[in-house]
Amino acid sequence: MTLAAYAALTDPVDLIDAALKDFGADAAISFSGAEDVLLIEYAAQTKRPFRVFSLDTGRLHPETYRFFQVVEDRYHLHIEYCIPDAAQLTALVRAKGLFSFYQDGHKECCDIRKVNPLRQQLSGLRAWLTGQRRDQSPTRGNVPRVQVDPVFKGLGGGDLMKFNPLAETSSADVWLAIRALGVPFNPLHERGFVSIGCEPCTKAILPGQHEREGRWWWEEGTKKECGLHAGNLK
Ligand code: ADX
Ligand code: SF4
Repeated sequence: MTLAAYAALTDPVDLIDAALKDFGADAAISFSGAEDVLLIEYAAQTKRPFRVFSLDTGRLHPETYRFFQVVEDRYHLHIEYCIPDAAQLTALVRAKGLFSFYQDGHKECCDIRKVNPLRQQLSGLRAWLTGQRRDQSPTRGNVPRVQVDPVFKGLGGGDLMKFNPLAETSSADVWLAIRALGVPFNPLHERGFVSIGCEPCTKAILPGQHEREGRWWWEEGTKKECGLHAGNLK
């Protein structure tokens, strides 16, 4: 299918169905352990086989690790955990300790714990599906439903398709669907966490705050991408 044909599929389930049909085992859902669980529910609704991977940074909340297992059990799947390179991580924490990101920014740690493992995982795929949404962040206002990944390459160094089936779904609608469909969710969401990442870099927010304010709160809002979706930054 052409990009335009995919982009014409406004229903997330239809788009996921088309992606799974066309890319099969060369496609995988990138699951963070937050409200993007809806992608997994929708993929299950297509009745097609599908793959799921998570970047296990080693710094996720205990609740998120437990939730991964809940999702595995509920949807009868094995999440493919992607872990950081031991040598890179050892060098970082021995030189700078476990919390260097509070001093010199999150890029170095995110590169080692998330971006490099992601690049490795994507190098075996032709398509990935993310839970990015336009209303999620000031950096994501233009996220398309489907794009050729502007940053990463896929299998054999070729182009990689990036599907963002929830791009135009609002946070409110994601939560309506999760509740209406009885989808399991991360219990942190009941405690004021809206956007969820690594434990040291995520906090609960107050009513009315933008969800992104709970991530890397010591840094400026327009720069808050960790490299997974760096193409969103102009
Ligand atoms: S982040 O780049 O700021 O960390 P965010 O938490 O908003 O991303 O999540 C957006 C999408 O990025 C998720 O729906 C998921 O597809 C992907 N993603 C983020 N974190 C992870 C993770 N740890 N493992 C796998 N995918 C992730
Ligand atoms: Fe490191 Fe924080 Fe990035 Fe997680 S979010 S990889 S702990 S800087």
